[in-house]
Order: sequence, then structure tokens, then C-alpha cells
Amino acid sequence: MTACAQQTAAPGKSIAQLRADFPILAQRVHNHPLVYLDNAATTQKPQVVIDAIADYYTYDNANVHRGIHTLSERATAAYEGAREKVRAFLNAASTAEIIYTRGTTEAINLVAQSWGRNQLQAGDEILITALEHHANIVPWQLLCQQTGAVLKVAPVLEDGTLDPAAFAELLGPRTRLAALVHVSNALGTINPIADMVAQAKAAGALVLVDGAQAVAHEPVDVSALGCDFYAFSGHKIYAPTGIGILYGREALLDEMPPWQGGGDMIRTVSFEHTEYADLPWKFEAGTPHIAGAIGLGAALDYFRALDQAALAAHEQSLLAALTGGLTGIPGLRIIGTAPNKVAVVSFVIEGAHQADIGKLLDSLGIAVRVGHHCAMPALKRFGVTGTVRASCALYNTVEEIERFAGAVTRVREMLL
Ligand code: ALA
Repeated sequence: MTACAQQTAAPGKSIAQLRADFPILAQRVHNHPLVYLDNAATTQKPQVVIDAIADYYTYDNANVHRGIHTLSERATAAYEGAREKVRAFLNAASTAEIIYTRGTTEAINLVAQSWGRNQLQAGDEILITALEHHANIVPWQLLCQQTGAVLKVAPVLEDGTLDPAAFAELLGPRTRLAALVHVSNALGTINPIADMVAQAKAAGALVLVDGAQAVAHEPVDVSALGCDFYAFSGHKIYAPTGIGILYGREALLDEMPPWQGGGDMIRTVSFEHTEYADLPWKFEAGTPHIAGAIGLGAALDYFRALDQAALAAHEQSLLAALTGGLTGIPGLRIIGTAPNKVAVVSFVIEGAHQADIGKLLDSLGIAVRVGHHCAMPALKRFGVTGTVRASCALYNTVEEIERFAGAVTRVREMLL
């Protein structure tokens, strides 16, 4: 039996069988079997998600909330049904707390502009960490320029874990919001998010969690976590691009003004006065990404049916294979060695440029991301401007990782 066939992640289904759910993985690239290790950038889609989108356009396509005809009713039911699936996935109290956005980035910008712009004053503080993606930095910088608020950054230690003492010290009476990444996209570090949320709440701050890289790897329960906002993107969890979620506590969302105005977010409009729609539609101006929402619902159905404990064990075996396979390659330095990581490994090789490594790996059929990973400050902390990053999903196998590690050794020899 091969290593691949032995790995299981769903009751009765091997990883090899799960791979068959993802048609894109069966192809060859540059005459090699595709090894897709760019899952932190975007995951591949199972056939059930592709079918859900195709079925919507084939049979049910219509605008939502607007028509009394059958297709519109079907589209609305599917769109709102998907919202309930997201609610259940996050364990939110109500679908009023689930707002569709284009992705994590839009969700964070919504909070910055709707909540932050109306609540913050000069001298107020927003606390982030040095591990953040640009999507959880730049919206707060814009907000600071608009309000006079101050951005504070909790540093990370040499292994890529957050410095807990510095984090605690930076939380103070002026901290109005802590905007915290759950899992680092560049290094793979899993933050102790429950503790961090509890500390920030105890200090009187609101908490937003950037869950883009967490949802496909870590259990998320917003009710247990007690955060005020949680943002994620569908495409990181086997759903389409262009659809994401902002979870917000209902009482807070109720107080917040709409961010964008337009159709579908109103109850009545006159030239003198507009009454807004109830939650969550108050925050969903214009025709939404209906197919995307339906695809997200299908992806969550698919993902939640898998054995999560088996997936977590599989992920740790991939991480061990990645770390073990790369350790010992001369001149190779892994950036981010936190004890608590998802299966993401970033590295540099002395004397070899990451773009050349990435291109040569592609010529061997292996897809990785190279560069700054939209986390320039996180990499700067480690004295590098870019890395090669291999990031795994549930369909990757230890055999693929072994092929990848062998390819890195070959590529290094080719370049040096
Ligand atoms: N945020 C995505 C990544 O980490 C695009 O690659």
C-alpha cells in the first residue's frame, strides 16, 4: 500500500479518494503530475462546488429578493440557505450576523469604515500584530489617517510566535479595537486566538479576527471565541473567489451605519430620507454574488462532512513531512518555526532568488507562491523581502511533499 492510500481524512474515504473530488488535480503540468502547494493563495474546488454553481446558472439564475417569479424565489432560497450554512459553520447566534462580502479584505474595510470611522477619535488605538496580511494593516492605516487614531503593532518572536508579554503590554485603556490574525498566511503560525480575544476584551477593546487562513485548518466557533467580528474568504475553503463573510455581533451591527448605499439595503427611499433594511441586508448593497454564495454553501457542506480530527492529523503529517523534507538542504532557512503551525512552510535558500526557485519548481509541475505573500512587514521582521511558500490543503499527500522536497534539492543544485 502506498503512503498516499494509507492517509485518510473522511470516514471511509482515503486521501486518494478525496483527491478524485477535485478534478483539476488530475492534470499534468509541463509533463509532470501537478503538485498544487499554493493553497494559502487559493484552494481548488471539489466537483460538488463546481456543480452547484453550474446548476444555479443552468436552472435557477435570477436576481434575489426582488422577484415574485419562480426562478427568483429559487435563487433567493438558495442564497439565503447558504447564509444559514455559514451561520452553522461559525456557530453564530443568528443569520442576521452573517454578511456576505467579496472576501476578507472587503469585510475588514467594512468594519473600518462603518464602525471605525464613526467611533474612533484622535488618540484612540488600534492594536494589530506583526504577522498581519496587508488586508489587516492598510484599512487601519487609512482609518488612522481619517480619524487621528494610532496603530500599534504587537511584535513576534524569533520563531514566528506572537510575543505574549508585548501583546499584553500594548493592550491599554486607549485600545478601542484589536484586529488579530488567527493563522499567519506567510509563516503558518497559529495564534492563541482564544486567549488573545479574552485579553483584548478584558482590556475593553472590540476584537476583529482575520480568519482567512484559519477556516480551512482550525475549528472556528465565534460564540465560544467571543470576538466581535470574524472575517474570512470563501476561496480559502474550497469555495469560489469573490465571496466572503463578515460575522459581526448583532448588537454592534445594529448600531453601525451602512457602508455602501444602493439597492437591496433599504426599506424605503425618498429624496428626503432613507430607511435601511434589517440586518444583514443593510450591509449588502446591490446585486450580490449569488452564485458565489451558493458555491460557498456547497463548499461548507462538503468540508463539514469530513472527519475533522482525521483532517487535523493529516495536516500535521504534511507539516512534519514538509519540515523534515526541507531541513538539512544546504543553505535553506525556514522562516517561521512556531510550535503551533498549519501545514505552511516558508523558506529562503542562500544565493538563490525565490522567483527562480518558483519558476524551476513550476517546470517540474509544482505550484508554490514566491514573494512577499502580501505580508511585507512580517517578512521584514526576519530580514527577508520574499520567500518560497508551500501551503497544503486536505488533498495533498505525503508523497507529493516528498516529491516537492526532492525537487527543491534539485532546483538548488541547478541554481548554485
Ligand atoms: N492572501 C493570499 C496568500 O497568502 C493571497 O497567498
